[in-house]
Amino acid sequence: MTKIYVHPLPIRLWHGINATGFVMMILTGFQLRFAGTLDLLPFQTTVNLHNWIGFVLIANFFVWFLFYLFSDRVRSYHPDLSPRRQFARTFSQMQYYGYGIFKGQPNPHKMDIYDKFNPLQSMLYQIVMLLAVPLVAVTGLLLWDSHLFTPIMAFFGGTRVVGTVHMLLFIFFCFFIVMHVYLGSLGHTVSAHYKAMFITGYEDSH
Ligand code: HEM
Repeated sequence: MTKIYVHPLPIRLWHGINATGFVMMILTGFQLRFAGTLDLLPFQTTVNLHNWIGFVLIANFFVWFLFYLFSDRVRSYHPDLSPRRQFARTFSQMQYYGYGIFKGQPNPHKMDIYDKFNPLQSMLYQIVMLLAVPLVAVTGLLLWDSHLFTPIMAFFGGTRVVGTVHMLLFIFFCFFIVMHVYLGSLGHTVSAHYKAMFITGYEDSH
């Protein structure tokens, strides 16, 4: 078994801050939206915390974005240039998660420093990082100061529309985190992927 360095330090730092921040955003967001059900902190403290962590996460997003913009490691996110091969790999990964894994079959994806994600991970992470995170950030920013952004808010359909999109993304992230943490436990040991992403950067390659 050899070790390969798949998560460079900037990505591990970004991910640690991002994961902690998102969990706090979900908890404070829940308290703000459903005031009276989960009163862990005073209301105004919760508002301030939600706003400040939001700004930290927006800045932190650029660590991830700029790292991949200027690193050849971005190849992990590139799809296969042959659509036929891309489809076949995606299909066999779906088969693995839906069936093979329960039969103890090997994971069809073999990790490499320039190919660390299977096709499903690569697609989902791009949707999350290039669509869901920017959208939750922009809607959050508009809601943060709705007076300052009145014309932009009106352009997107008003406070109710922007608030609803922000809320739907909140629901999406609640599901995403649960699935993501579960899938992260499916390495050769339960903690293998967590250790690699949060501490060492190294994954075992078989
Ligand atoms: C809450 C606890 C979290 C845990 C335990 C966790 C765990 C992990 C692990 C183990 C990986 C390594 C690759 C893999 O197994 O897929 C990973 C990668 C990743 N996670 Fe998380 N994660 C968490 C939260 C989040 C959140 C909130 C987001 C996004 C909003 C996120 C986005 C990502 C992305 C985009 C990658 C790929 C990073 C790269 O470009 O290399 N994670 N995560």
